[in-house]
Amino acid sequence: MIHVLFVCLGNICRSPMAEAMFRKKVEDEGLSEHFVIDSAGIGGWHQGSPPHEGTRKLLDEKGISYEGMSARQIMDEDITTYDYIIAMDAENVGALRSIAGYGKHHFIGRLLDFVEDDDRDDVPDPYYTGNFEEVHELIETGIDRFLTYVKKENDL
Ligand code: 4NP
Repeated sequence: MIHVLFVCLGNICRSPMAEAMFRKKVEDEGLSEHFVIDSAGIGGWHQGSPPHEGTRKLLDEKGISYEGMSARQIMDEDITTYDYIIAMDAENVGALRSIAGYGKHHFIGRLLDFVEDDDRDDVPDPYYTGNFEEVHELIETGIDRFLTYVKKENDL
C-alpha cells in the first residue's frame, strides 16, 4: 500500500481539499486499492472539525465527497507510517522536518514542487486570503503531477 498524507497548518482548508481531490482522482483511475490517503494539520486547533465552509462549498460544486472527514493534528508516527508527506507550503515543510528530526522517514515535500512549469511554490492559505478557487486550481495541477510521479515510482 502507498501511504499518502497531505499536510497544511489547520487541516480544515487546503489539506482536506487535497485529500478529497486526490482520493477522487485515484478512484477515477481505478487505483484505490493501492492507496491509503489522509490529511493532517501542523496545529490541532480544529481537531474533530469538518472541512472549512469554503472547502466544502468548492468540493460540493465539483461533486467531490468529503464525507466523514475531520481535522486532526499530525502525530509522530505519521512520519514513519506515510510514504509521501505532501505539504502545502514551506512553513509546513519546516515544521514537518523538525518533527521528523534525523530519524527514519520517507518523502517530505511540497505539493507545488511537482509542478515545474509554474513559479508558485506555496499554496496560499485561504483561511486568510478567502480565495478557495485559486487553491483548488493549484491543488488540481499539483495532485495531477504528483500522481503521475507516484505511479511511475511505484510501477502502477
Ligand atoms: P489550512 O488553513 O492550513 O489551509 O487548514 C488554516 C486553518 C486554520 C488556521 C490557520 C490556517 N488557524 O490558525 O486556525
